[in-house]
Amino acid sequence: MTQYMFVLGKNWILSIAELIACLENRGINVKITDHSRTMAIVDIDQTLDDESLAEIQTALGGAYKIGTTVMVLERNLVKRAFPKRGSYKSRERDRLLKCPWVEIVWPKPQGKRVEFGVSAYPLSNRDNIDLSRLTKILSEAMKHRLLDRGARKAAYYLYSEPDRRDPDRPPTALWPQTISKHNLLRPPNAEILIGIMDSDVYIGRTLVVYDSMLQQYRDEARPFVTSEISTSPKICRTLLNLAGVKEGDTVLDPFCGTGTLLMEAALQGIRVRGIDLDPDAAQGARTNLRWLGQELGQQIDYSIIRGDARQVHELLKESVEGIATEPHLGPVWTEKPDRDTAISTMRELTKLYNEALKSMVQVLRDDGKIAMTLPVIQSTGGVVRMDTRPLLKGTGLEIYRLIPKDVVRSVMKKDKDLVLRPERERIPERKWGQVVQRDVIVIGRG
Ligand SMILES: C[S@@+](CC[C@H](N)C(=O)[O-])C[C@H]1O[C@@H](n2cnc3c(N)ncnc32)[C@H](O)[C@@H]1O
Repeated sequence: MTQYMFVLGKNWILSIAELIACLENRGINVKITDHSRTMAIVDIDQTLDDESLAEIQTALGGAYKIGTTVMVLERNLVKRAFPKRGSYKSRERDRLLKCPWVEIVWPKPQGKRVEFGVSAYPLSNRDNIDLSRLTKILSEAMKHRLLDRGARKAAYYLYSEPDRRDPDRPPTALWPQTISKHNLLRPPNAEILIGIMDSDVYIGRTLVVYDSMLQQYRDEARPFVTSEISTSPKICRTLLNLAGVKEGDTVLDPFCGTGTLLMEAALQGIRVRGIDLDPDAAQGARTNLRWLGQELGQQIDYSIIRGDARQVHELLKESVEGIATEPHLGPVWTEKPDRDTAISTMRELTKLYNEALKSMVQVLRDDGKIAMTLPVIQSTGGVVRMDTRPLLKGTGLEIYRLIPKDVVRSVMKKDKDLVLRPERERIPERKWGQVVQRDVIVIGRG
């Protein structure tokens, strides 16, 4: 058994649900041993090789770093050594500054030039451990430990400026770009991960990080983009994992737009089928997939049909292993509509999805899953959500629970917002400032 540390995306619950689905789709048994709002500690009954880890990381939309645990410390020790308020306890700090994990990560540093970084992830935004001081002081202490143990050179990188787009992100961790730029994953270099949980602190070493440069290139260089309707590639990857598709499978996106989800799928070697009512969007998706094939220098198995999602069973002449989609979410509002308008839009969308689901189910393999987003409209008279009963009526489909009960080891959480509820059927995916927010659901034949 090996214990892995997954640094979670901003939507931590969705990241965990996706992670479980992604690993289980690959036949890997997982147990979530512990988690915070920023990290999941996952026990896996096998050791994953570098290739599998890289493939899993590429497939994930949420978690963006994978590491392995080296040591577990008591939270109380770390809290006393680096409290956010009040004075620290010297005995505890001295103990921590011995950095016992250095000997495990670098058993033979003699004569080597070592560059490293320390990235710490809090329990939540309210964590009362001073991670900023901890990363700086521990980095310096580790440098000295390495030099004392015979390293020729030891240098570290500290986190860069906080991200303007994501001020909630803890400014105590290195970005994947920084890690790649300085080759911190190539031994003897290393990134040390610190995950603060309720009662324990996990110390580990990063094995793989998400290639954000590649993502940026794909987003910016692809020929056809319509930002108004485009779905983020991250959420697309999450939907693909929740739909249970992987290399060699065929996935359908019946509201494919310009094909963001299909491109993410094609990159993973998944065969892609797309349908869209708008001829420009359908043509855009074709152009994007052709471009991707040229960029990758390989043949992509794709087909895009201009048509109505309610007629999937007539348009598509084959069955698919999974369906993943961000459907048409209604009008693009710049201001909140009134409640009646929101309710009547929701009714229309429910009808559209219900008819589309009745058609989709006919091309879906027996054990196939449908992962999709549902609109959540912020009206002037409150939030309007879609009722799943009329959505699923007459489809023979049922809604799945997103966090399987047997996968989560119950861990005491003092903060009730941190409890992972296995009965959850929808997970919100919020985008700041948008009138139409989304919930993610997974449905299937049960
Ligand atoms: C939210 S967008 C999908 C965006 C897509 N995931 C992307 O990133 O490009 C919804 C799409 O549904 C299409 N659409 C609307 N009604 C449809 C229908 N009845 N059948 C198929 N497509 C439809 C729209 O043309 C639009 O491209």
